[in-house]
Amino acid sequence: MKRLSREWLEQIIHLLNERIVVVDNEGTIIYMDHAYCDLLNTKQEDVIGKPVQEIIENTRMHIVTKTGEREVEHFQPINDSVMVANRFPIMIDGKLEGAVGTVMFADPENLRSFKNRIQRLVKDLSYYRSKVEKELKSSYTFDDLVGDSSSFRALKDFAKVISGSNSSVLISGESGTGKELFASSIHNNSFRDQAPFVPINCAAIPEELLESELFGYEDGAFTGAKKGGKKGLFEVAQNGTLFLDEIGDMPLSMQSKLLRALQEKEIQPVGGQRRIPIDVRIIAATHRNLEEMVKEGTFRQDLYYRINVIHLEIPPLRNRVEDIPLLIKMLLSKLEKRFYKKQVTCSTEVMEKLKRHLWPGNVRELENVLERAINVLKGNRIEVVDLPLYLRDMEENEELGHVGNETKKAIQESSIPIRPLKDTVAMAEKQAIERTLRFTNGNKLEAAKLLGIGKTSLYDKCKLYEIQ
Ligand SMILES: Nc1ncnc2c1ncn2[C@@H]1O[C@H](COP(=O)(O)OP(=O)(O)OP(=O)(O)O)[C@@H](O)[C@H]1O
Ligand SMILES: [Mg+2]
Repeated sequence: MKRLSREWLEQIIHLLNERIVVVDNEGTIIYMDHAYCDLLNTKQEDVIGKPVQEIIENTRMHIVTKTGEREVEHFQPINDSVMVANRFPIMIDGKLEGAVGTVMFADPENLRSFKNRIQRLVKDLSYYRSKVEKELKSSYTFDDLVGDSSSFRALKDFAKVISGSNSSVLISGESGTGKELFASSIHNNSFRDQAPFVPINCAAIPEELLESELFGYEDGAFTGAKKGGKKGLFEVAQNGTLFLDEIGDMPLSMQSKLLRALQEKEIQPVGGQRRIPIDVRIIAATHRNLEEMVKEGTFRQDLYYRINVIHLEIPPLRNRVEDIPLLIKMLLSKLEKRFYKKQVTCSTEVMEKLKRHLWPGNVRELENVLERAINVLKGNRIEVVDLPLYLRDMEENEELGHVGNETKKAIQESSIPIRPLKDTVAMAEKQAIERTLRFTNGNKLEAAKLLGIGKTSLYDKCKLYEIQ
């Protein structure tokens, strides 16, 4: 019977589609086929006897000779190409004597789908990263608050000064003006900054849960209560700051309980007798006119005085047009990172339109408009076509363009927003939908019924007004 000669073995290896390297248990090369040598631009006599990691980029052969564990279908970059590598330990008489490795060019189709998979993962990762960052980032500071207009600067300076005090703060301002940003910056600029900043949105929590959310509950307080009870947010915020967002939406019954807690500096968990002393600074925020609500009897006057010790009123964006370019710059540089773009700018025409718009949704609306534009952007300059329709179609004489300077000034100084009727109607519609969705806990079908419109129509409107 004919035995396999060395020539035969060499031929067979050459015919196979894979390149082969063999190392001893020190990771020293004892064999490398010709084609592998060609691939690496070297010769057999120059590689035999050399440590494998000196010859092959990104190799793990020397590791396999230590672990004794096979590695199959690993992607290994060599000479700017991606190869598929297999590495097997060589066991002789149960002893780890060395390893054999093979590489071959990755199938371009596989490579493409691999690349797509990685790209998808990178995208997912950046989505989750931004989500986590957002959640962790109750840690805004005054440096994050962009604005150079005199009204905004004065407000920022005032907020810095009162950061150190213990008195309650009421922040009012339209939706999207940065109320939460101010609250968080005040906390981080205060002596309480090492303790938690705990935000709670009073409008988003059903009335019957609000009390136990704020004050906690004792074991067995009600059916469905968690065993061992639950800490309330007042306790979670101990020594820190409790941010009561949308306080204007707090039901009257709860307002009385909150007032008692603030006066007595103690809370009583639901279903218990225990009283817990609390040391928490209160910052409340609302987009509503609380004074009006007090007059109407929907907000307790005593609570209003209690929280309104220091009042910050954030001016709407349309009253500080000079901040718009600065905000755009900051928002674009934030968005560039998320969307892997560089040096995105706005055309002059776009900038003019953005400065003329009245921004009922303030900075948040501006943020949404820019994010949408970056999503559809081809190059790196935002043009009018990249804007949403309602901004694109803005006529020269719309918004404040056609009124005399005196009137314009009067409008800007007025605290009651004056804007074209179609904007006011749109704003009212948006608010009505948001309020109803809050009421139905986000259930769109229920909300559509309550609003007396079809489900599709509600979906369309949510999309139009960018309601999540
Ligand atoms: N002056 C500012 N500088 C930088 N970013 C800002 C500024 N004002 C607002 N923002 C951004 O706008 C968005 C809205 O801000 P924030 O959530 O604080 O508004 P809000 O007044 O609490 O709104 P709402 O009443 O709808 O809750 C955030 O993403 C915030 O980062
Ligand atoms: Mg808010």
